[in-house]
Amino acid sequence: MAALRITVIGTGYLGATHAAAMAELGFEVLGLDVVPEKIALLERGETPMYEPGLDELLRRHVPGFEGSSGRLRFTTDWAEVGAFGDVHFLCVNTPQKHGEYACDMSYVDSAVASLAPHLTRPALIVGKSTVPVGSADRLAAYLAAHAPAGEDAELAWNPEFLREGFAVEDTLHPDRIVVGVRSERAERTLRQVYATPVAEGSPFVVTDFPTAELVKTSANSFLATKISFINAMAEVCEAAGGDVAKLAEAIGYDDRIGRKFLRAGIGFGGGCLPKDIRAFMARAGELGADQALTFLREIDSINMRQRGQMVELARQALGGGPFLGRRVAVLGATFKPDSDDVRDSPALNVAGQIHLQGGQVTVYDPKGMDNARRVFPTLGYAPTALDAVRGADVVLHLTEWREFRELDPAALGEVTKARVVLDGRNALDPELWRKAGWTYRAMGRPTA
Ligand code: UGA
Repeated sequence: MAALRITVIGTGYLGATHAAAMAELGFEVLGLDVVPEKIALLERGETPMYEPGLDELLRRHVPGFEGSSGRLRFTTDWAEVGAFGDVHFLCVNTPQKHGEYACDMSYVDSAVASLAPHLTRPALIVGKSTVPVGSADRLAAYLAAHAPAGEDAELAWNPEFLREGFAVEDTLHPDRIVVGVRSERAERTLRQVYATPVAEGSPFVVTDFPTAELVKTSANSFLATKISFINAMAEVCEAAGGDVAKLAEAIGYDDRIGRKFLRAGIGFGGGCLPKDIRAFMARAGELGADQALTFLREIDSINMRQRGQMVELARQALGGGPFLGRRVAVLGATFKPDSDDVRDSPALNVAGQIHLQGGQVTVYDPKGMDNARRVFPTLGYAPTALDAVRGADVVLHLTEWREFRELDPAALGEVTKARVVLDGRNALDPELWRKAGWTYRAMGRPTA
């Protein structure tokens, strides 16, 4: 069988990682983006985001770097993509629509509309974007009507489960591969694409279109539910004097529950979980199944409440009055560590709320400073954690970077008299901080 040639449409987070991973698996890959600046950057072996290992992986395959395989090229030309690819991966984003719960399908629709006229020979078009269930059926009908190759231009759906911060690892060694297909031919092609990870043990789940689409949204909804569940328990622990960290550890030993995703704190953010549960509710409503997902509204509202509770905790730590003129150090701006992504970041939201209430907020984040400044230019920013903490009346730990866990509380204590730390991620070692003379407080845990 001739080696498959792969194109990747959309070179954002998902697309750039997928393209590099496909080249790593040995395929010739052509990535397309409609933004020429993105292409220029990728051709220099760089990405616009911070993702551990991704730039290195690109340079192993983009031509021009020492030892590069030369298998990964980029273009802005749809005709070139149509002529090149046996398999076209759709990796464009599906953000939340402005002012609505539903997701915006316009990037996916426009990518398919741009590609269709160039599908003149047999090809498999594989959707990876997170979409409302029913989209694959609709797009397959569109391709059948518009691709010159007719039935030979077939659609499949193959959702992506990568996590930011682990994108390379998750793409090369996925914990499962899910493919929604309508023919044996499509399944065969995808088995060929994923032969290496499958040989290394990744389960390969074959299903229909709607199930493949739903696997993705239900997986993210389940993860969001776990986080809001433990945050609800944190609220109860807080009221009853219990310790949510111990509770999470104890229930997590039951492997039906599992220990992961039970870290209580200021909740989930980012470009996926919050918008995916909202789009899922919106889609269920359209399908007349909205009753099935009303619990997700509660998951969302528990999540949003956590941010407000952190602000209140900070207010209490400052004696309960207004924030006006009080100095608040914020450690962390990104929605999670090992990422520079500040989209819907709980950390930045908490910092912003305190700032808007008159607090003098100084933020430090290891990788997210540029993005945070762009989103919230009026906050104060410091070049190091120590600088952020200097003179602070209270310190808020809001993103659990390793750098913050490794801080020396004694050294930080020298630059602030107040010595109060609020751990919004339940990730610092309370004993370490208390021994160094700090008052340590976390959501859902006893005060001392
Ligand atoms: C999430 C999913 O985990 C991926 O499987 C999925 O592919 C991806 O969305 C997507 O749809 O593209 P990601 O957005 O990178 O990945 O972030 P997560 O690691 O899921 O974390 C989401 C948020 O939950 C973060 O703000 C994190 O701080 C928070 N979180 C996580 C908690 O508050 N507590 C926890 O115990 C775990």
